[in-house]
Amino acid sequence: MKHLSDYNFFDPELLICPYEFYKLAQEQAPIMELPSPRSDAKLFLVTSYDLVSEILKDTKVFSSNFSTLLAGKEEQDDELQKIYAQGWPQINTLLTADPPEHERFRALVNKAFSSSRVNKMHDLIEQIVDELIDDFIAQSKCEFVSEFAVPLPVKVIAQQLGVPQADLPKFKQWSDAFIARLGQLLSREQEIECAKDVVAFQHYFHDVIESRKKQPQDDLITDLVQAKVAGERELDTAELLSIIQQILVAGNETVTSALAAGMLLLTKNQQQIPLLQADPCLLENLVEEVLRMESPTAGMWRVVTQDTKLQDIDLKAGSLVMVRFDAANRDPIKFQQGQRFDVGRQNASNHLSFGQGIHFCLGAMLARKEMHIAYQLLLLRLKNIRLAQQGYQYLPNVLMRTLKYLYIEFDK
Ligand code: HEM
Repeated sequence: MKHLSDYNFFDPELLICPYEFYKLAQEQAPIMELPSPRSDAKLFLVTSYDLVSEILKDTKVFSSNFSTLLAGKEEQDDELQKIYAQGWPQINTLLTADPPEHERFRALVNKAFSSSRVNKMHDLIEQIVDELIDDFIAQSKCEFVSEFAVPLPVKVIAQQLGVPQADLPKFKQWSDAFIARLGQLLSREQEIECAKDVVAFQHYFHDVIESRKKQPQDDLITDLVQAKVAGERELDTAELLSIIQQILVAGNETVTSALAAGMLLLTKNQQQIPLLQADPCLLENLVEEVLRMESPTAGMWRVVTQDTKLQDIDLKAGSLVMVRFDAANRDPIKFQQGQRFDVGRQNASNHLSFGQGIHFCLGAMLARKEMHIAYQLLLLRLKNIRLAQQGYQYLPNVLMRTLKYLYIEFDK
């Protein structure tokens, strides 16, 4: 029998299939110390539903300001500094901000990301989904990640942020540059290329912001520029750029991951497809069950602000904590037979895939809508969906659950 100490959490193979490890961790050490990448801070991994939830809700002891942890190497590098000096300062607005600053940004952005704004995107999403299916349906097969799951969220967000079709490759390049910086594994040349991309992104959106100020349109970026709440000033350019950057990063990869993971689950559980076709009301639950099973954002950081104790474990101020959404979402205490994919699961929506508390995902409503419309039209137009011989492959990643490719076949 394997022991917890036999596992290395950072082993790429474990990251691809961590569930056996999580089961043991939940039984024996739902909060456990891992080897830390930093000599000055201990690192803890949290896998139980209740502890993850407790940490997310306690923003005083568990801070989201982990931006210094993820910051690039610009502080020690003159050339990088020179490049960044040509843009706007990068500030903490949502994901990496704590109260009270977080409150102001979130209130303003909530105004823009309203349910009426998301509902207005319905027809656009339907149209993009149909066009993407049109592009591959005649071949009775496709590589689902690149032909569907990547372009859908990119096109939706691009349209809402006022990026014309011709600029889509640039848009994707910037999004990848932000994610590459978060990954911390760049060579100096790559750091420099990313810095140029960040500054190019800022200038591009500065121009879009200015044009929306002069000529408002019916889109998200206009809503952001105009957002106002009582007693608060409007968002300035650096703040707007930081928020747009987060929408870009948080809104593309995650939805891609969710769409692809759901398709893979359907091909592996084909007996559940007729249930969905017979009762379209089940589609809503399908979306929740996919989010629970695959948790596109698999984990997230918190920094301990004051000495504290969790389940008899001492956590010193400055320690790093990684909460695992993908573990919590299969915790047997919360989800019976959590390893089983079940489109009829009663409490599927209790998952923590969008987080909890003040940082609860800003784009949850949009992500759910994109997934719902996508599965509805895919199941309507593609019959007998199955995994193709080339199969699928996951990419090991500490924070994200990512499918590199997924080949499917179907009848028209
Ligand atoms: C299936 C898709 C998605 C998943 C699984 C997901 C997951 C999450 C999670 C777990 C958090 C909380 C992080 C924390 O507590 O530190 C979060 C926050 C956030 N998400 Fe999402 N997300 C998704 C889609 C989107 C989309 C489509 C957008 C925007 C268009 C978006 C924008 C954001 C932003 C801006 C935050 C920070 C909110 C804050 O700190 O107040 N996300 N997301």
